[in-house]
Amino acid sequence: MTLACRSEQAKGDDSLSRSIFTRKTIEDLRLSQVSADGEPALRRALGPFSLMALGVGAIIGAGIFVLTGAAAARYAGPAVVLSFALAGCACAIVALCYAELATLIPVSGSTYSYVYATLGEVFAWIIGWDLVLEYAMGAATVAVGWSGYLVSMLASFGLSPPPQFTASYGGATAAPGVVGLFNVPAAAIVLAVTGLLVMGTRESARVNNLMVGFKLAVVGVVIVVGGLHIAPANWTPFVPANTGDFGHFGYSGVLRAAAVVFFAYIGFDAVSTAAQEARDPQRDLPIGLIGSLTICTALYIAVSAVLTGVVPFAALDRPDPISAVIDAVGMPALAVAVKIAALAGLTTVILVLLFGQARILFAMARDGLLPDVFARLHPRFHTPAASQAVIGLAVAATAGLLPIDLLGEMVSIGTLAAFALVCVAVMHLRRRHPELPRPFRVPLEPALPILGVLACLILMAGLPWQTWARLVVWLAIGMAIYLTTGRQGARRHAKAAAN
Ligand code: ALA
Repeated sequence: MTLACRSEQAKGDDSLSRSIFTRKTIEDLRLSQVSADGEPALRRALGPFSLMALGVGAIIGAGIFVLTGAAAARYAGPAVVLSFALAGCACAIVALCYAELATLIPVSGSTYSYVYATLGEVFAWIIGWDLVLEYAMGAATVAVGWSGYLVSMLASFGLSPPPQFTASYGGATAAPGVVGLFNVPAAAIVLAVTGLLVMGTRESARVNNLMVGFKLAVVGVVIVVGGLHIAPANWTPFVPANTGDFGHFGYSGVLRAAAVVFFAYIGFDAVSTAAQEARDPQRDLPIGLIGSLTICTALYIAVSAVLTGVVPFAALDRPDPISAVIDAVGMPALAVAVKIAALAGLTTVILVLLFGQARILFAMARDGLLPDVFARLHPRFHTPAASQAVIGLAVAATAGLLPIDLLGEMVSIGTLAAFALVCVAVMHLRRRHPELPRPFRVPLEPALPILGVLACLILMAGLPWQTWARLVVWLAIGMAIYLTTGRQGARRHAKAAAN
């Protein structure tokens, strides 16, 4: 890496000539993340094991514990296994692209930073804003799922909290005539996890590793115990006949279910947001990204094969499909363990998504696109504590007030848009800067990245038009913020950096 490629952009970066399409060079990006002397820096506290656990922590959650049942029962039948494989292949291509960019640009902003280097400032802002859907809204969605599992676990001990405080504002509750006011458990888990993240990355990683170990163990037990009770007749027909409605069984159903279970894979990319806290990013980031995705894909395929093999797929249409299998094998003790594992699993997803959100906002604030508070590090904990607290409060309020379906569909579309851009960024940088050292290279470029873009677009096409409309409104709000405040901040920042 030479400073030559830095100067190419630096020349165009004075405040007057700065355009909304100004690109950052790779060197700029790296330097902008280095703290000045005396300032606290993010600590390089994460090794390959913790990075992989971070990935698994973010991946295994509501997708497998909640969504698999509906995907099998309503859309794909036993072929939900194929849906998981399809969504897994699409994510594998994207993960390879992430690995190339994360080792080339090992800074904390992830996709935001990659897009700044390729498409320029305004697109970087848009993607940073879009990533709020994946990370902050993703954390809120999973927190609502967490609250549902908690209520169901309390019910198995004969306890029932007031229903108006376990549902979204105005949402239906199990009690007739009672509507929701605020989902207190959803907000509480977000605030608790935020407290942990403020205290330190290493401490958070330790708690994450423990909970990931537990959820993996329970998922493993479900696979083994369920595997012994498979009745192969449940797998025939493997692809049930189409009901006449597009997306309901048949191969169109397999595709539709792939769009639904895509949610289960969201989060592996959070590994790349930890680039600045990785001990050896160029070696460990590809291990974390690809390793966690491989483990989870294998587990998902095994769990979905077990679920559809033990009970007829129509019996899986419930919010806790794994419990259907536990009931069928007659092991009530395992039912409690599964619920605790689901709670632990969902907690780690919230933890990693909140962690990633703070790192992305950190990078944006360092570029002047957001207020300084998001780039401030705590002098003792070396974490973006203030930013983490602001994010925690906003996500807790969202999780307390909004329903899970509205949140969930926004998360998927926002994430797919970001994934497609990551594939584009790989191709763009290969052509623009072929000379840069790439510790990890996507094989078969450009064929694989092009396939990655197509896969994301196909999965996006499977989402309803209302979700697209909400994405457009969300991006328009982001654009208004950029034009009124973000752009000026970036100009001021560039001017200060030039002096
Ligand atoms: N992949 C994460 C989950 O399934 C978001 O909960």
